Amino acid sequence: PGKQLTDSYGRTIKSLRISITDRCNLNCIYCHNEGNMKVADEMSAQKISDIIKAASLYGVDRVKFSGGEPLVRRDFEDILKSLPPLKDVSATTNGILLEERAQSLKEAGLDRINVSLDSVDDKNYSLITAANPGDVYKVLRGIEKAIEVGLTPVKLNMVMLKGINEDKIDQMLEFVRKHKGNIILQLIQLMDFQDVVKYQVDVEGIEKQLEERADEVRVRKMHRRKKYIIGGAEVEVVRPIDNTEFCANCNRLRVTANGKLKPCLLVNDNLVDTKGSNAEDIPRLLEAVVKKRVPYYRGNVTEG
Ligand code: 5AD
Repeated sequence: PGKQLTDSYGRTIKSLRISITDRCNLNCIYCHNEGNMKVADEMSAQKISDIIKAASLYGVDRVKFSGGEPLVRRDFEDILKSLPPLKDVSATTNGILLEERAQSLKEAGLDRINVSLDSVDDKNYSLITAANPGDVYKVLRGIEKAIEVGLTPVKLNMVMLKGINEDKIDQMLEFVRKHKGNIILQLIQLMDFQDVVKYQVDVEGIEKQLEERADEVRVRKMHRRKKYIIGGAEVEVVRPIDNTEFCANCNRLRVTANGKLKPCLLVNDNLVDTKGSNAEDIPRLLEAVVKKRVPYYRGNVTEG
């Protein structure tokens, strides 16, 4: 085994979360909207693959691509084709362009996808995302295409929004059930990036309801995440806020669309820029950024 990227809290980086563009074809009411970057500042396909290659030599074997909306990049397939062997290559997409791209993405080497889908109700979906009427059906067809070509398991990210989609969980479960075995529903606790506290739901309450309805409850070791089986549908609750487990188990390093290595989603003042550097510089930059990692929710995580 070669050298690894281990931080001063004993956490070893196994996964990269790479934003390949800040551009997005939707405009969600709660989005943390990193989207004020110039297109010209987006990393080149070459830079993206250089970073992944360098990280893979340190044992990083999982990559998740995100955005913005990653499918707005027409060279996403080229990026995928340039990657070294990895254990898990995935993307988080809003699914609007998925139906037409699922096949080519799979062929280019993508293993699976997460689809951001906060509602399957057309009006409700458009209210949340500013999509055009009928667009949710594009997303649903995209998900079905993704299952057909084997981008599975498809994980659906449903951010819970108070007064907006709390009452849409059952409708979502119905869709999940239709594709059981191929879809996992993730109910995500809203993170307060901007002025979105007003949408914060009582996650505890939702967990209680799920618990009552579940045929089976499992606790996943990773982040102590709870998994419920409800009428055959698999549902997980993702609670990033005030969750020391979330940070203690964090083994991912982020890369922004303009090529900055980012130690933590929630910290913005300790990024390491790869701009102007070439492939040979990247290992040194990876080692430098990992030294800056500090758990955001500390609890009793100790340095050592
Ligand atoms: N809180 C929680 N999740 C969010 N996402 C975007 N903004 C927030 C937020 N404020 C989710 C999207 C998408 C993923 C990339 O992040 O729903 O699934």
